[in-house]
Amino acid sequence: MTLFAPFPAGRPRRLRRDSATRDLVREHRLHAHDLILPVFVQEGQGLTDPVPSMPGVARVSLDRLLPQAEEAHRLGIRALALFPVIQADRKDPEGREALNPDGLVPRVVRALKSALPDLALITDVALDPYTSHGQDGVIDAQGRILNDETVGILAQQAVVQAEAGVDVVAPSDMMDGRIGAIRQALEAAGQIHTRILAYSAKYASAYYGPFRDAVGSATNLGKADKKTYQMDPGNGDEALHEVAMDIAEGADMVMVKPGVAYLDIVYRVKQAFKRPTFAYQVSGEYAMLKAAAAQGWLDHDAVMMETLLGFKRAGADAILTYHALEAARLLRGA
Ligand code: PBG
Repeated sequence: MTLFAPFPAGRPRRLRRDSATRDLVREHRLHAHDLILPVFVQEGQGLTDPVPSMPGVARVSLDRLLPQAEEAHRLGIRALALFPVIQADRKDPEGREALNPDGLVPRVVRALKSALPDLALITDVALDPYTSHGQDGVIDAQGRILNDETVGILAQQAVVQAEAGVDVVAPSDMMDGRIGAIRQALEAAGQIHTRILAYSAKYASAYYGPFRDAVGSATNLGKADKKTYQMDPGNGDEALHEVAMDIAEGADMVMVKPGVAYLDIVYRVKQAFKRPTFAYQVSGEYAMLKAAAAQGWLDHDAVMMETLLGFKRAGADAILTYHALEAARLLRGA
């Protein structure tokens, strides 16, 4: 008996032999159209206020956001996700500023839609940028989140955003029943074309730290957490249950968040429902790569592109990522 056959039964390396063949047989590709750029916007003029834990990301005023949006659009990015930085004196326990039709988000939506009508806009539906306690909903005297009261407010917030002209509302609050309530409120307001991107499987994650620094909800939140509404990281089947409910209630697209640590969920959701499935590579994931690259420990661009491709391979149709501009620039150069 010979220890080795005279030649291997198969030679997968044939398909890896040269770059032409590798390009021909590649199953998944990243395109600028796959990328959604999250941005932080604040009141004022001429302001670019860097987020220390997110190198390359800043909280900008509208005049500074416009050129960024133009570049994104030029590079083939099809959508921006807007996150407001609300002044402390406009926050209260009910997050009332969220319903102001002349508030920061509606004004920025109107300005961006008139400057760049073909660039889709996504707005977050949740109260955390607006509440003095930093929770996504309203709370009782014991600090417990009041689900149904919150849902009523979120539905109004979504209508305010839709009336300002946003293309997609994205409830990121994880209250029960909010997708159905928002869909009903939009229909009743005649906003029948507004799409809902449901943060269906949003986990109670420590990866959101830098985002909470950016919007200033970290200090408001203090030692409190969001574990009574965001999902437990130990659960996978529950994500499918959440997605099923959101689709039944009228979600057009569903989201899994965070990204890399939850690619199994992206895969399972896409396989199970075959619906538009988005993934959010969140602030902490971005911060980790920036930190390692700054130390010279990782090749920034290579790891960024490999990671984004991983989302596609797992089944994501689009990826919210703070790397969107730099990735789109690289794709354009390639
Ligand atoms: C708030 C919201 C959060 C993020 C998006 N929307 C933070 C949170 O739930 O505390 C996190 C995004 C990121 O970390 O990049 N509803």
